[in-house]
Amino acid sequence: MSTTDIGPKGPVGQVGEAVVEYVDRRAGAKTGITWFLKRNIPSETSWFQTLGFAAMATFGLQAVTGMILAMYYKPDPTTAYSSIQHITNEVTWGWLVRGMHKWGASAMIILVFLHMARVFLFGSYKYPRELTWVTGAILLIMVMFMGLTGYLLVWDQRAYWATVVAMNITASAPIIGPYIADILRAGSNFNPDTLSRFYSIHMLVIPGGIATFIGLHLFLVSKLGITEPPWAKRAMRARRAEEAAARAAARERAPQGRREVTVAPATQPVKVEAGQ
Ligand code: HEM
Repeated sequence: MSTTDIGPKGPVGQVGEAVVEYVDRRAGAKTGITWFLKRNIPSETSWFQTLGFAAMATFGLQAVTGMILAMYYKPDPTTAYSSIQHITNEVTWGWLVRGMHKWGASAMIILVFLHMARVFLFGSYKYPRELTWVTGAILLIMVMFMGLTGYLLVWDQRAYWATVVAMNITASAPIIGPYIADILRAGSNFNPDTLSRFYSIHMLVIPGGIATFIGLHLFLVSKLGITEPPWAKRAMRARRAEEAAARAAARERAPQGRREVTVAPATQPVKVEAGQ
């Protein structure tokens, strides 16, 4: 009996175990889950390293609330605005789901930026995590596009004119700008197809892309492990050892009799006694 066994399993536990065993023998589920979830993490891992997961949780929330809204929303210029009014005023808890989706969008963008800032400040984008950073940057662009395409769906004056401005700005970008604007608008101007184009991009194209890239991003995070916070003792010891090695190498190279060698990234000049 291992330390994790806590006695005989009830019928639900037995069925659960049998299902896991069944899937494991055929698809190696246990190996995959163990690889993904059960790994060592650096000491002194902090709350700052939960921001990526928080962003992912808001994406899950946006997906669920978005699916509920899609059951009532009508992406047609003649009915879109009234369907939004219907959701807000008549559908049971519609106001709540719509509010969660609207505030969730802002929360997700803020969390993604905070996560990116922590990755930058911890230096986690450096080798070997460059691809994790690149997949993250693509995720950031897609998240921003979710905001842009979702904004129009309300189909009131503010949404319409804000999107007209956004499309004009997009079209003014060099070379590819006009093409991107035409693709988004489904033509060179706003037309009856524009709303359904935005709706399709908002609820099918980009969420599919985001889900795929989150998968890639997490695969890389699992494969490479997360970085230590800069204040972790082990990281500090490694940095000091690196500096000591750089000092020793500089000392080797220094001409005899030269007494002072400065080694990056040490902030203080290092005094070296001749002949040491
Ligand atoms: C939808 C947006 C995003 C989601 C859901 C997401 C999710 C995650 C998660 C769950 C982690 C592991 C835990 C953590 O470090 O917080 C992580 C790590 C990481 N993310 Fe993101 N991320 C997103 C956007 C970004 C962006 C915009 C960047 C940078 C441009 C980025 C770069 C990274 C890097 C480099 C790591 C590895 C950090 C380390 O090794 O310590 N991510 N991400």
